[in-house]
Amino acid sequence: MSLLTVDAITVAYGRSKVVNDVSIEVPAGSIVCLMGRNGVGKTTTLNAIVGLLPLVSGAIRFNGERIERKAPHKRIEGGIGYVPQGHQVFPRLTTEENLRVVLERNRSMDPAAYDEALDLFPALATMLGRPAGLLSGGQAKQLAIARALLGRPELLILDEPTEGIQPSIIGEIEDAIVGLHATTGVSILLVEQYVEFALRLAEHYVVMEDGSVIDAGKTGDGDLERFSDLVTV
Ligand SMILES: Nc1ncnc2c1ncn2[C@@H]1O[C@H](COP(=O)(O)OP(=O)(O)OP(=O)(O)O)[C@@H](O)[C@H]1O
Ligand SMILES: [Mg+2]
Repeated sequence: MSLLTVDAITVAYGRSKVVNDVSIEVPAGSIVCLMGRNGVGKTTTLNAIVGLLPLVSGAIRFNGERIERKAPHKRIEGGIGYVPQGHQVFPRLTTEENLRVVLERNRSMDPAAYDEALDLFPALATMLGRPAGLLSGGQAKQLAIARALLGRPELLILDEPTEGIQPSIIGEIEDAIVGLHATTGVSILLVEQYVEFALRLAEHYVVMEDGSVIDAGKTGDGDLERFSDLVTV
């Protein structure tokens, strides 16, 4: 069964439609990678899934329930975790405070999720007192992922977790995602332009071009060179 079904969604900025009739399935327990060149509409699609942008048309189902009219915080409470593109941490708060503030604001979250999130990122556990603005790009990304896990989401949405991050840290992020998936069975929708990374992680792929889905399938069916052609500029 699909955990998330994005059914023919169209999304626009003003009158300009940048996502046209896009459909994506995330089977329960799977990792799905959404790929495509810069500007094809990947982030716009994710923002529509979490409710930051309205739909022009189409439907979104999560656990069988229509969610496209729900407010973003309702979708998050309902089991969707989102790590947006870029480093979205509070720079003046410490690493620990960045995590604690989420737990304090959301009383329904289990405080034990704090330790679980840190267990996945050993590097962060040594930086608890450091202001997040002084973390490296890779560490800030790990913190953003850890924060999204505090609500123990059923679906984790990650927008380009390797963007601008040095190769040694990419390995740590990959290990954390693999470990998280193996221990919790969380489903993951990942936007990624680093094709090797994406294909190592994901069982299913979707490729977008110019606002539309042009290819989708199981990653085992495709070869690396063809994906690279579809994704690189
Ligand atoms: N707030 C906005 N207002 C108007 N147009 C926008 C806005 N955000 C994005 N766009 C346009 O919508 C299109 C899709 O952008 P989007 O950010 O979804 O692409 P993307 O696939 O995530 O690209 P990248 O790989 O560079 O992150 C682009 O043409 C972009 O210029
Ligand atoms: Mg983007």
